[in-house]
Amino acid sequence: MAVDVLVGLQWGDEGKGKIVDLLSEKYDVICRFQGGPNAGHTIEIGDQKHVLHTIPSGIFRKHTINLVGNGVVIDPITFIREIEGLMNSGLDCTKNLYISLKAHLILPTHRLLDAASEAQKGAQKIGSTLRGIGPTYMDKTGRNGLRAGDVLKDNLAERYEQLKQKHLKLASIYPNIDFDLESEEKKWFEAVEKMRGLNFVNGEYFLNELLAEGKSILAEGAQGSMLDITYGTYPFVTSSNTITAGVCTGLGIAPSSIGKVIGITKAYCTRVGSGPFPTELFDQYGETLMQAGHEYGATTGRKRRCGWIDLPQLKYVIMLNGVTDLVVTKLDVLSAIDQFKAGERYQLIDGTMSEQVPYEMETDIRNVEYQTFKSWKEELGAVRSFDQLPPGARQFITYLEKSLNTRVSMVSVGPERNETILR
Ligand code: GDP
Ligand code: IMO
Ligand code: MG
Repeated sequence: MAVDVLVGLQWGDEGKGKIVDLLSEKYDVICRFQGGPNAGHTIEIGDQKHVLHTIPSGIFRKHTINLVGNGVVIDPITFIREIEGLMNSGLDCTKNLYISLKAHLILPTHRLLDAASEAQKGAQKIGSTLRGIGPTYMDKTGRNGLRAGDVLKDNLAERYEQLKQKHLKLASIYPNIDFDLESEEKKWFEAVEKMRGLNFVNGEYFLNELLAEGKSILAEGAQGSMLDITYGTYPFVTSSNTITAGVCTGLGIAPSSIGKVIGITKAYCTRVGSGPFPTELFDQYGETLMQAGHEYGATTGRKRRCGWIDLPQLKYVIMLNGVTDLVVTKLDVLSAIDQFKAGERYQLIDGTMSEQVPYEMETDIRNVEYQTFKSWKEELGAVRSFDQLPPGARQFITYLEKSLNTRVSMVSVGPERNETILR
């Protein structure tokens, strides 16, 4: 068997949670391989809505193993809160949830540093979710970090204190920010205590053994390819490799074990936080997409910036990820507008036309050339087969397949698990 992968192809929030939850019916194992509680993956089952931050989106299936991979960063406070939230809704997820020992821990002072660093950047700020992601990955690569496995060691408090002292010295170079460290620390140690009762595994052996047994595995991406630390719109990115390559380092599986790569895109595009967004809308269309698509961040509640789907951008990440299948979400939202567009080419600053993502989107792109499509009036929420879609919607999907040279295997027409068209 192989490890299939699902990755976001834009700047995050493409609907990964919904699609992974749906697909998890057919997989034995779902794993997160990177990122941390900066993610917010929404799942709607009937009239119940859940937002997951660290727990993989296969958790609602009783027989699915859910693994938090080695490449993930875990905040014990958020993690335990998430587990308890699910408990309160009647789901005991502690049996089929596994934590990789080599995942790194987010300390309260990582969050403090995240906020302080953003405060110093002022107008240049990344627009971080302030979950401590950047500082935690910095400590990982700087070889200072604490790992999930350290939760089980006797000297955790001592090592915590050492790292905290380092952070506090570092914080003194930044502006002062309001942060109740004492109270956050108390919550952190309480959560760590609760974590000790969970299932810890050597993620890499655990997964390779499951692979050898013939189990089907899906790796669930967080964020989106344009937020990748190397290939995204640097520095307005997150601090992990969000693309398919991150699956190997994040889970400890070999590149030859990768199977299908499912890339997910909205029928339009959104971005939350700062950074370039060539097809961004500042008019009524953007406003309508935001309202109709309820484009508010699942983690921070911030308004998401909205714009048209961007084909050069998608071609770039389809190449980087090796996408074999596309999922198009939020097609239903386009019913709210009379017409919509797809960005086809960039006019670069030197006047030439290009279908490639330039070095710096912000300064290197002058204009975007679009194709305009007439929308449809019908609501799509009840549509369950491709043939039932209005002709305009079908034509748009076919256009995407042709332009991106990749088949669309799934179309999503609403937030609920079943509001999906399988092809
Ligand atoms: P993720 O981070 O990629 O899992 O995406 P988020 O959960 O942050 O954001 C996607 C939002 O769109 C959530 O509120 C979903 O419930 C919702 N959603 C997902 N698919 C669809 C769809 O096809 N149509 C509509 N209208 N909403 C959707
Ligand atoms: P999911 O998995 C959308 C964005 C932040 C910010 C930048 C860096 O739900 O798609 P960070 O907290 O990582 O330092 O923030 O990345 N960002 C996301 N945007 N969806 C996400 O996750 C995101 N995770 C981080 O808004 O611009
Ligand atoms: Mg999200």
